[in-house]
Formats: sequence, C-alpha cells, structure tokens
Amino acid sequence: RWLSGRNGPLAKRKVVITAGGTQEPIDAVRVITNRSSGKQGYALAQAALDVGADVVLITAPTSLIPPYGAKVIKVRTAAEMLDAVLQETQDADVLIMAAAVADFRPRVAQSQKIKKEREIPSLELEATPDILVEVAERRAHLGYPRRVIGFAAESEDLLANAQSKLQRKRLDMIVANDISAQDAGFEVDTNRVTLLFADGRMETLPLMEKDKVAEAVIGHLITMLI
Ligand code: CTP
Ligand code: CA
Repeated sequence: RWLSGRNGPLAKRKVVITAGGTQEPIDAVRVITNRSSGKQGYALAQAALDVGADVVLITAPTSLIPPYGAKVIKVRTAAEMLDAVLQETQDADVLIMAAAVADFRPRVAQSQKIKKEREIPSLELEATPDILVEVAERRAHLGYPRRVIGFAAESEDLLANAQSKLQRKRLDMIVANDISAQDAGFEVDTNRVTLLFADGRMETLPLMEKDKVAEAVIGHLITMLI
C-alpha cells in the first residue's frame, strides 16, 4: 500500500467519516439496530489517514479498533450522530457518510427494562433525522463541508435508487452497494460497488476487499479536491 502520510495529497485536509450502525433505544437494555459492521467506514478512515488527512471518525458501536491517528467520536443514536456531524463538518473539507443510520426509532424509550410478565409491548416508531439532508441544507449557505460522499445500500434497482439518493441528498459522489449477494455488503470483508458522480459519470468496481474499495473512494476524493 502506498503510504504517503503527512506529506500526502490530503495533508491538512479535514475528512469526517461516519461508520457503524446506529442504535435506537427501546428501553434500558434493548435497541433497534442493523447489521452494519463498520468495516467499510473504518477502512475509509485508514485510507484517508494513509494519504495524510486529518481524520475524524464518528462511530456508532462496533467491535472494531479505530485506526491509529484518527480523532474518534463515539455515538449511539442517529440524533447523536447528527449532532456530531454538524459540529465537525462546519470547517471540514469532506464528509463521508458510511454509517448505516437507523431510519426509525421508538417514539418513546422506556427508562426501565420492560418486564416480560406484563403484556407484550408494541413499538410505536418515528422517523430519525436524515443526516445527509440536514448537511445539504446547511452546506447550501455555509459552503461546508466542501465535498460530500454518501453510500447507498440497495437490495434491488441499485443504480436507479443510488442515482435518486445522489440528487436528493445533493452529493458529489455516491457509493452504490449491492447487498443482494452473499459476498458483498453487511458483515463481510468484501463489497461490490458502483461509484456514481454528480456530473453523471459512473464507475463499476469488481468484487473487492473493503480496504481496496476505500482506497478507490479516497483516490477519487483526491482528484475532486485538487
Ligand atoms: N443517511 C443519513 N441519515 C439517515 C439515513 C441515511 O445521512 N437518517 C445516509 C447514509 O449514511 C448513506 C445515505 O444516507 O450515506 C443513504 O442511506 P440509505 O439507507 O441507503 O438511504 P435512505 O435515504 O435512508 O433510504 P432507504 O433506506 O429507504 O433506501
Ligand atoms: Ca436507510
């Protein structure tokens, strides 16, 4: 791997990366979450460090060890992730939203553990904030973060769905992730992705290790910032 470190092409660039699956509390012990491992986000943080970036890793709970040299901010919920992202991207060059943010959360979280002797509870859900939409709104008048990259995890209609997210969330690039296959996406070390750009360009990568996908994404980021 090409390690250029502090003199690398992203030296003095602030890159904020989110990773992992958020956890939305049901009660004192239970959460709603998803199958994200955090691997792709952590690999992106390492790849950005390797080319000299100042990396802020905003991470939902994972079993991974954060890469050495990143500033790590631990969050649990989508709301906490939103706060951290808005705080850290005010002066950032780049935001990469690799996290799998919960789309729904319980409307109320019980402060005590729900006991099974009582009736079986039903959960009333509400939408979480869409972090990329909030970032896009603020970026429209603030100008920061200068570049925004999103992910799209799709089980069908990969390119059409990714294209619409690219536009709705006003991204510079989206990493469209095919999660229909066993060897790609959640809980595995490999990903099968297509990169879609705001100017209409598209690039499909073969099945790759997540750290190679990360290097490819950071490579494109370098050309976007030069
Ligand atoms: N995302 C976000 N805030 C949310 C949900 C998602 O910022 N509340 C980000 C993800 O981190 C990802 C991108 O939006 O970079 C697309 O996430 P995805 O789950 O694929 O799309 P959604 O807009 O949530 O739509 P859906 O899950 O219905 O396909
Ligand atoms: Ca979603």
